[in-house]
Amino acid sequence: MNDNKTQVRVIIPASAEHIDLIRLTLYGIATKLGFSYETIEDMKVAAAEACNNAVLHAYGDHEEGEIEVRFEWDDDSFHIVVKDEGRSFNFREHADGREASLEGRPLQELQAGGLGIYLMQALMDDVQVSTASGTEVTLTKRLERNEVLT
Ligand SMILES: Nc1ncnc2c1ncn2[C@@H]1O[C@H](COP(=O)(O)OP(=O)(O)OP(=O)(O)O)[C@@H](O)[C@H]1O
Ligand SMILES: [Mg+2]
Repeated sequence: MNDNKTQVRVIIPASAEHIDLIRLTLYGIATKLGFSYETIEDMKVAAAEACNNAVLHAYGDHEEGEIEVRFEWDDDSFHIVVKDEGRSFNFREHADGREASLEGRPLQELQAGGLGIYLMQALMDDVQVSTASGTEVTLTKRLERNEVLT
């Protein structure tokens, strides 16, 4: 993390009712950074999809778990990092133990089932996944030209 980077972390219980807190925090930070209303709405949808995946796929129905969301930004870009410590992506089971080599690869190379990941890719400038421990999804948006950093 370079010196100009700011980080805000929010940890929520992994349940659907708490995802609103991520949307609200994201709204606050993205507004402060000067993102347009449309871009903020797009980022809210993408972040909610990542959180939903953690709620639905990482932890079982009766398992306790947490989702950590880090908001990180510098002069160039804004990152939303959604991390869980639950079961990881199904593709690991199909990867014949090659999961380490999947680390950091673009998501389009991974076997993904539903719409959530495609939506994240469509709405953000970049989407990366790490499965080193649980799942960590990094959603990136470049700062828009006339955004003023405070
Ligand atoms: N945080 C996660 N933990 C474990 N597995 C995950 C996680 N995120 C995604 N996955 C796996 O990746 C698959 C694809 O996710 P994606 O969001 O694209 O589709 P979906 O959640 O199955 O359906 P949809 O989002 O359209 O309701 C999931 O079905 C799940 O197997
Ligand atoms: Mg999903």
